[in-house]
Amino acid sequence: MAFESFGTMQVNEVGHLEIGGVDTLKLAQKYGTPLYVYDVALIKERARGFKKTFEELGVKAQVAYASKAFSAIAIYQLMHEEGLSLDVVSGGELYTAMQAGFPAERIHFHGNNKTRQELEMAVDYGIGCIVIDNFYEIEMLAEVLHEKNASVSVLIRVTPGIEAHTHDYILTGQDDSKFGFGLTNGQAEEAIRQVLAIDVFRLIGLHCHIGSQIFETTGFKLAAHRIMEQLVIWRNELGFHADVLNLGGGFGVRYTAEDQPLPPSQYVREIIADVRDVATSNRLDMPEIWIEPGRSLVGEAGTTLYTIGSRKEVPEIRSYVAVDGGMSDNIRPSLYEAKYNAVIADRPLEVAEETVSIAGKCCESGDMLIWDLPLPKSGAGEVLAVFCTGAYGYSMANNYNRIPRAAVVFVENGEDKLVVARETFENLVQLDLPLH
Ligand SMILES: Cc1ncc(COP(=O)(O)O)c(C=O)c1O
Repeated sequence: MAFESFGTMQVNEVGHLEIGGVDTLKLAQKYGTPLYVYDVALIKERARGFKKTFEELGVKAQVAYASKAFSAIAIYQLMHEEGLSLDVVSGGELYTAMQAGFPAERIHFHGNNKTRQELEMAVDYGIGCIVIDNFYEIEMLAEVLHEKNASVSVLIRVTPGIEAHTHDYILTGQDDSKFGFGLTNGQAEEAIRQVLAIDVFRLIGLHCHIGSQIFETTGFKLAAHRIMEQLVIWRNELGFHADVLNLGGGFGVRYTAEDQPLPPSQYVREIIADVRDVATSNRLDMPEIWIEPGRSLVGEAGTTLYTIGSRKEVPEIRSYVAVDGGMSDNIRPSLYEAKYNAVIADRPLEVAEETVSIAGKCCESGDMLIWDLPLPKSGAGEVLAVFCTGAYGYSMANNYNRIPRAAVVFVENGEDKLVVARETFENLVQLDLPLH
């Protein structure tokens, strides 16, 4: 695949890949590799784009950043500055957001197995909303609230029975899912009845998320349509009105030329048109629409820089080019067979002369970052830039083989700022306790 730029990415006057006005070779030199580089201007553009679309449509909305895509204090602060809300799924994400100074009332708490401690923490912080996922949680959260003499706004997560076209592991809206209450099997209605009967809950609406890396609007529209039609029935039968309809995230991004995502605003426009239709034809008040984009806010804004090391030729079969990271900083190729594109950072425009496969350094044959990548001839010490690593890269990073986690740097207007330091060997052993 030829070089394709995202956001502020360009080839500078000396022919190097530049992001946010900063030469990537200089970044690699200054901070070492592997290094996640985020284009702040592109994140802002995406955040503003989503907000503007709702404004233009005249729809009351909240755009909540799904922080599982990339969770760190700096990104929470940036999303707060951009006026977004936040979706967290664990005590750890919630704690990080609070450390970042994110206002608790704009945080929504998700998860299919929140612990009592996490629920207590959320209530103590004064969380904006808890997305109830299952019957166990209804009971436990009610207990927590009664003990604390508190109340909280809640959404009920429903699975609308939609099979979105994406990888099985990132599908979430089908009937057979670990998340949420089934819309078609009566569980969602039972959950609504239970929640309405408990005085410490303020049931403000419903939530659904059908999956991730989705390129069409059909699945989103079908899900929204089914929920809206069900809301008409529940209004008539239970007197229940949803002030909020949270339609989740899942808008696709362009990892490689195979991916053809729609502009983010188009997903929103088409979904809203459908929701409006059902609302108008059934005289249902238009609910406030919440969305939770993760990947589409930060995915394309991230690029990972690696240093090339060893090379192995398997005659007439394959050339393996190994880099100084791998499944420890980007597990998606091993987990979902995710595909990526990359260039040599000091000559992104140079014509490819060979096809190589980019291997990680972990002790797993499956630790391959990119299979069959056309590249110019490259050698040890050169910097490889892998595109579109901003979502589910750092947030899924791990210490397999005791490889320290990579650093994260933000770039904008010719300035670079370290926002997550590189893990050290000392960090790796700091929680270990000696046997004797
Ligand atoms: C409930 C929920 N909301 C939002 C998202 C964000 O999805 P994406 O990053 O594809 O936009 C996810 C991702 O798994 C999710 O589970």
